[in-house]
Amino acid sequence: MAQFDAFEQFRMTGHVAIITGGAQNIGEGIARTFSGAGAKVMIADLNGEKAIATAKKITEETGNEVRGITCNVTVDADIEKCVAETVKAFGSLSTLVNNVGWGRAYDDPLAITADEMVESYKLNTVSAMRMTAACRPHLLKATNASITNSGSMVGVLPAFDFLAYSAAKAAVNHMMVGLAHYFAKQVRINNVMIGTVITPGYAEAGLDAKAVEALKHPNNLTGRAGSPQDIANAFLWLASPAGSWMSGQTLHVSGGGARVRLKPE
Ligand SMILES: NC(=O)c1ccc[n+]([C@@H]2O[C@H](COP(=O)([O-])OP(=O)(O)OC[C@H]3O[C@@H](n4cnc5c(N)ncnc54)[C@H](O)[C@@H]3O)[C@@H](O)[C@H]2O)c1
Repeated sequence: MAQFDAFEQFRMTGHVAIITGGAQNIGEGIARTFSGAGAKVMIADLNGEKAIATAKKITEETGNEVRGITCNVTVDADIEKCVAETVKAFGSLSTLVNNVGWGRAYDDPLAITADEMVESYKLNTVSAMRMTAACRPHLLKATNASITNSGSMVGVLPAFDFLAYSAAKAAVNHMMVGLAHYFAKQVRINNVMIGTVITPGYAEAGLDAKAVEALKHPNNLTGRAGSPQDIANAFLWLASPAGSWMSGQTLHVSGGGARVRLKPE
């Protein structure tokens, strides 16, 4: 019988996680992966019905209890309720994933209104801070407490056609690294810079079918778009005991980013 199990540190037994926007796509992948690694998971989503359905599906797949709750992460009362219900259901809270985020395309970045800039900031950035504030008392009592945020490559390499979103995602990075320094030994915080994962969200953001097709063949080092599982694997490392020496970092999970060469092919 082997004495060393390299996967032991990636297990999340004893952890309780809230995953915002976990009803579908990347958030669902993170919820399934944490649950499959042994965590108890609360999916907090604007679409409560879908959160509950996804939770039920994952519970059947992993055998670990996952719950879903309606929560608008831009509304403090919803956040408070979500945190209270999680602790009531599972007895503690060790792990927060701020995964909610969205942006839309604009042909003219300077046509974005002041209200649209503020709305993007509220959804993508302020929500992560409010969730962190509500979770703090519980995280401070937990072992291996962590917060991991769904960032975007456009938060480090701004896309001018998604400027409101790019700027808000850049702000998440800065804010959460600042909070990692504030919490230091108490709560680890990291950001994952997500590359392209094809979802219906791209069409909803204003990209046409041709643009979405092009995104499926990106100019990155692996030559393919990512899957929710590619992203969830990084979240598992960062949130599990295996990531206990990781904090205040922005990790790029993007197929290696753009392929650069000076000489034409
Ligand atoms: N898909 C990609 O290629 C990609 C690339 C870079 C970064 N990201 C980031 O990854 C995260 C997840 O992306 P996705 O493509 O899986 O998103 P998605 O749009 O498929 O899912 C987002 C989920 O969040 C929920 N939601 C929306 N507004 C909410 C609110 N106010 N409160 C609570 N829940 C809300 C939605 O109901 C949905 O279930 C986002 O932060 C996104 O910006 C995605």
